Amino acid sequence: MQEPPHFVQRFHGNIAVQDRIRMFGQKPATIWLTGLSGAGKSTLAFALEEQLIGLGHACYVLDGDNIRHGLASDLGFERHDRRENIRRVAHVAQLMNDAGLIVIAALISPIREDRAMARAIIGPDRFVETYVSAPLATCASRDPKGLYAKAKSGEISSFTGVSAPYEAPTDPDLHVDTGTLSPAESVAQIFHFLREKCLETSAQRSAQTAGD
Ligand code: ADX
Repeated sequence: MQEPPHFVQRFHGNIAVQDRIRMFGQKPATIWLTGLSGAGKSTLAFALEEQLIGLGHACYVLDGDNIRHGLASDLGFERHDRRENIRRVAHVAQLMNDAGLIVIAALISPIREDRAMARAIIGPDRFVETYVSAPLATCASRDPKGLYAKAKSGEISSFTGVSAPYEAPTDPDLHVDTGTLSPAESVAQIFHFLREKCLETSAQRSAQTAGD
């Protein structure tokens, strides 16, 4: 990781991680969804966000397509640009986690080494590598944005799975197979994982408030 010049020093405020955990009733984490285009990352990310917000949890989706309209609008799809994209999103996720939020990041993030970088930036205890998988043929037949057709005709170059690599996670924290599960079942799988790891129940919250 690149460091700033030595004369740039960190300033620490008085709010501890535990203060934010108490405030939000949740441990911050980043659910990092990786997978091919068309595997269902954005669909699952926004559905999970809706569920969490509905239950009163603070969370936010960092979606690859949306990020590329702003923070990463100067980046393309070659190897080094994708790495820079992931580096930027990982830092934003780390800041949001620091603020106490649950982050759902939905990026193809096709290279193992780049995902390892994201894990290092966010922190291994907060990073949940979630492999959203479906066979390439399934993704290509779903083709929600018509991009596989464009990649096959050569209109788009370096397209993941067609003319650029996708390195599947070998040991993900979570594996959601959208080739066989429905969207609702897929979201439920991630939600159950999060509930065990990060979320306080409303009963716990009430007990906490009563004890204050
Ligand atoms: S990543 O590889 O850098 O993680 P990211 O998730 O931000 O990719 O962006 C992927 C989105 O960009 C896809 O959902 C698709 O809509 C669009 N896209 C445009 N060109 C490409 C390409 N060559 N490869 C993959 N996705 C592309």
